[in-house]
Amino acid sequence: MRILIACDHGGYVLKQLLMEQLQHHGHEVIDLGTDGPESVDYPDYAHRLCRALLDGMADRGILLCGTGIGVSIAANRHAGIRAALCHDESTARLSRQHNDANVLVMGGRTTGPATAQAMMMVWLATAFEGGRHQRRLELIELK
Ligand code: RB5
Repeated sequence: MRILIACDHGGYVLKQLLMEQLQHHGHEVIDLGTDGPESVDYPDYAHRLCRALLDGMADRGILLCGTGIGVSIAANRHAGIRAALCHDESTARLSRQHNDANVLVMGGRTTGPATAQAMMMVWLATAFEGGRHQRRLELIELK
């Protein structure tokens, strides 16, 4: 799968770890920064990733900041982006099955590396269930 990934300084360490794991599993990873631990503004990275995803640059995206909250709020401003802030394997799985989440969000300061790695693998492997959930997704988008 082709996957975009981006973060602010609060998610930088976890991003580097997740990128290694993605590459190890044969995914093509496009890293949109940030490129170090220096302080940056998380909305810039969330918007960059969402625009690239909506432009068709990849199949899915992964966003990180300290808590995951800031990048979630920014990402979900984009029509067609369904960014899910997840905290465990169960929420990661459900975000695919029920919400067809196209962006997985995690907090670099709130989620440990082992949990984050497990969540990401479940999220990548889980399909959208469609059916009644498709109708609900259509109701999300404002006319
Ligand atoms: C940055 O200090 C922090 O505010 C950011 O990473 C994120 O947690 C915002 O929601």
